[in-house]
Amino acid sequence: MTLVNTKKMFEIAYKQNFAIGAFNINNMEIFQGILEAAVEESSPVIIAISLGAWKYAGIEYLKSLIENGSEQHPDIPMAMHLDHGDSFESCKKAVDAGFTSVMIDASKEPFEKNIEITKRVVEYAHEYNVTVEAELGQLGGVEEHVVGVSHEDISKFLTNPDQAVEFVEKTNCDSLAIACGTSHGAYKFKSEPKLAFDVIENTAAKLPGVPLVMHGSSNVPVEFKDLINKYGGKMPDAMGVPDKAVTQAAKLSICKINIDTDLRMAMTAKIREVFATKPEVFDPRKYLGPGRAAIKEQVKHKINILGSSDKAEICN
Ligand code: G3H
Ligand code: 13P
Ligand code: ZN
Repeated sequence: MTLVNTKKMFEIAYKQNFAIGAFNINNMEIFQGILEAAVEESSPVIIAISLGAWKYAGIEYLKSLIENGSEQHPDIPMAMHLDHGDSFESCKKAVDAGFTSVMIDASKEPFEKNIEITKRVVEYAHEYNVTVEAELGQLGGVEEHVVGVSHEDISKFLTNPDQAVEFVEKTNCDSLAIACGTSHGAYKFKSEPKLAFDVIENTAAKLPGVPLVMHGSSNVPVEFKDLINKYGGKMPDAMGVPDKAVTQAAKLSICKINIDTDLRMAMTAKIREVFATKPEVFDPRKYLGPGRAAIKEQVKHKINILGSSDKAEICN
């Protein structure tokens, strides 16, 4: 099977109350770890490429990897997705380069401007059968001006369900990333967070049939943080999104869940462990291999908590 857009996988995920993982890649080992997990779990998968990853690895290299993986595993529905496209131009470039799904993130713009940019991307992408994710509301982390805002004030950055209805009607986007209390990166919360499930539920109720997306969904596993620190790293204590909250969101209208940080931590923890416990190693395969295996285990776990195991066939 060739690469697919997200239309069918989201339709099934929406109806059957599960979500599909969107996992970020930067290199071959990360991609292979993710794909091996999707194959073993027989799960659809979204391979996410940020503009930073594009710049780092070059799109032709990443695309070759993904196309090759898809050819070897035609039974796995796989989308190649632009993560956080920041302008019409970057999304157009992605459509032209062969991405099957793009995100336009104009969420930092005023509402009307966000609509205008998103609509333009949708019109262009749909000509090429590329699906479009847009964003309304603001997360912490990447959308940095939200960082440092007190908990009480954060609600004004969350998605407004009534605005979401107007936004989707006017832009015709295929899926909508909402701000429901998560944030990007490894330093999300100091204590166990409470996601704004009311925002998810109210938005879903007002937008029946529209797949929603949750960014910033990493768990920031304490065992990886401890391993990283045990072997010379320096990561402060932090909490991510608990697995049970991710599962709860996946059972609602959230059809796509974005994970990057946990894969970075898994790989870094393993590589640090090899360096510290086997100082004689200098063959990159001897540390990148364990890094890849750690990513695979982590992605298998995510697929299980998202409920997308054994959904490959029905999404095909
Ligand atoms: O949300 C952003 C992703 O984690 C990608 O991060 O821009 O550092 O590649 P990046
Ligand atoms: P995390 O930093 O929580 O993994 O979120 C990744 C993300 O949202 C990518 O778009
Ligand atoms: Zn994101």
